[in-house]
Amino acid sequence: MIMLSAAILSSCSGNVTGNAPAENEVIAAIMGRRSIRKYQDKAVPRELLEKVAVCGINAPNARNAQNWEVRIVDSPEFIDGVTKVFLKEAPDAAARNSYFKNVFRNAPAIICVAGAEGRFTDIDCGLMGENMMLAAYSLGLGTCCLGGPVDLLMNNPEARPFYDALQFSEGYSLRYILAIGWPEEAPEAKSRDASKIRFVEFQ
Ligand SMILES: Cc1cc2nc3c(=O)[nH]c(=O)nc-3n(C[C@H](O)[C@H](O)[C@H](O)COP(=O)(O)O)c2cc1C
Repeated sequence: MIMLSAAILSSCSGNVTGNAPAENEVIAAIMGRRSIRKYQDKAVPRELLEKVAVCGINAPNARNAQNWEVRIVDSPEFIDGVTKVFLKEAPDAAARNSYFKNVFRNAPAIICVAGAEGRFTDIDCGLMGENMMLAAYSLGLGTCCLGGPVDLLMNNPEARPFYDALQFSEGYSLRYILAIGWPEEAPEAKSRDASKIRFVEFQ
C-alpha cells in the first residue's frame, strides 16, 4: 500500500527560497540563480556564449538523440529588429517599463533552442536550458528563459525573416529563448512551495 506522507520534508519547512545555505558550489549555483531582466550595455565574449551552449548540449537527453538545435545571436540588428516588430504589436511596452531596451528582457544576446518532434524533446530542451543557465551563472552571467517572444518570432509575419535567419532544420521548431548578458540587477529569490515534495511511505 502506498501512503503519501503528509509531512513536509524535514529539511524544507514551508516555502524554500534561494536564500537557503549552500553545501557546495553546485548547490550554491542552483539556489543562487535568478531570472535576470536588466543587463549591462556590455557585449558577452563569444567564447563564453559558446561555453554556455556546449554545457547545454551536454545535458542528459533521451537515447542521446540530441533532438535539438541551438542558435546564438549577439547581433544588435537582429535584437533591435525583432524589438521593432514587437513594439508595433505592443506600442506602449516601452512606456510601461522605463528600463525597456528590447523584447528579449533587455539582454544583449540570446540563445535560441529548437527541438524536433518527439515524445521527449521538450524534456531534453528543458534540461539543456537549466544546464545553460547554471553554466552562465557560474561565469557571472545572467539569464532569463523566455517563452513570450517565441510566438512573436514564429507567428508574426514581419518577424518571420528573423526566425528564418535562425535556419533551423526542417521539422524543428523554436521551444524557448535564453536571454543572456552581464546582469545589472540581483533580484531576490521567489519563494518555492516545499509542500509539492513528499516522501512516499510504502509497506
Ligand atoms: C518555459 C519558461 C518560460 C518563461 N517565459 C518567460 C517570459 O516570457 N518572460 C519572462 O520575463 N520570464 C519568463 N520565464 C522566467 C520565469 O518567470 C521565472 O523562471 C520564474 O518566475 C521563477 O523565477 P526565477 O527564475 O528567478 O527563480 C520563463 C521561464 C520558463 C521556464
